[in-house]
Amino acid sequence: MSVKVQITEERLAKLYGVMEENKKKPGPLMPTLHEAQKIFGCIPIEVQKVIAKELNESIAKINGVVTFYGNFSIEPKGETIINVCLGTACYVRGSQGVLDAFQDCLKLKAGETSEDGKYTLQSTRCIGACGLAPTFTVNGTVYGNATVSKAKEIIESLR
Ligand code: FES
Repeated sequence: MSVKVQITEERLAKLYGVMEENKKKPGPLMPTLHEAQKIFGCIPIEVQKVIAKELNESIAKINGVVTFYGNFSIEPKGETIINVCLGTACYVRGSQGVLDAFQDCLKLKAGETSEDGKYTLQSTRCIGACGLAPTFTVNGTVYGNATVSKAKEIIESLR
């Protein structure tokens, strides 16, 4: 399941403006990618091609950066982003069960976005809150001592 990204003339013009500015400084790629993520809500391959051409970089390099960093995504994300930590401390305390509960409730697999664009479910590595394990985040807010019932409660409260 995925949501289609809108690559409008207006958004592209904004991106070209950003690149024009960034090209005047050293290392224009990362700031351009951050802005592209903001402008389009993600950095799909069509946008990567535009950036590659304009900044004289290879698509392979840009795609590598986009897929490596969690701040970037190739597909649009939902309004509500749920991230379940599967780092070691969380995993041994049952975070897989919490992820399964979210998957069941949202009818999504980890990494997917609902067709209505409301939810993205993801799994992540350690978020640095192991003392609260198992953890998950909802739009960046950390929830600790997570349980399956807490996961279900959160989904109910979001609906
Ligand atoms: S392993 Fe989950 S917060 Fe560290």
